[in-house]
Amino acid sequence: MIITIDGPAAAGKGTLAASLAKRYRLTYFDTGMVYRAVGLQMLLENCPLEDKISAENFAKQLTFQRMMELSKNPNFRSLEGSHAASAVAAIPPVRAALLKMQQDFSKKPVFADGTPADGAIYDGRDTGTVICPDADIKFFITATPEVRAMRRFKEYEQKGQASSFEEVLEQTIARDKNDFARESSQPAKDAVIIDTSDFSIEQVFEKVCEIIDQRQKTLEK
Ligand code: C5P
Repeated sequence: MIITIDGPAAAGKGTLAASLAKRYRLTYFDTGMVYRAVGLQMLLENCPLEDKISAENFAKQLTFQRMMELSKNPNFRSLEGSHAASAVAAIPPVRAALLKMQQDFSKKPVFADGTPADGAIYDGRDTGTVICPDADIKFFITATPEVRAMRRFKEYEQKGQASSFEEVLEQTIARDKNDFARESSQPAKDAVIIDTSDFSIEQVFEKVCEIIDQRQKTLEK
């Protein structure tokens, strides 16, 4: 079974995908990591974010192992890291260079230790439209910019990363503008759209599980 979860930043995709991965024995790919890895590499090498050639070269050289190494850097998920990821993600040759790595992941789904999984779950922006257009179930998870910015602000606070709510809200809106300028980031035509603004993560999880269980019955027939 292949499941995709797309939607804007801080809509709750990651938490939801990780819980679903456990429940349905799926291996999980957080596809934002590939863009965060390239963006962080640009920052580490002091390359201006407009330097498309360097960004493309880093994307071509990126391996899963290197991405996991970079993910340990505190800037991987910081405001600066998120800005860099969003900037390099807007460069089409960067997206093209990172496509195969993302698509190959679901061809033979295995967990990190090599044991076989019952499928794969992806989260990102274009996983239902470009990465896995034939996925069994697609979700598009969203929430208002204010709700999402507050969630992210609390995460930064917990990690001790300095920021103000206003700064996080401003960046959330800027990232939406940048990320959703692409047609591929719009919800897939066959995606189930869920607005999480007024629901807890537990409520969203239950709702999504109901939909998956229902769909699995149809797939088994
Ligand atoms: O999901 P996350 O916030 O970690 O993604 C970081 C950035 O990577 C996003 O703002 C977006 O620009 C880019 N991205 C993308 N396509 C994906 C996943 C992420 O363009 N499938």
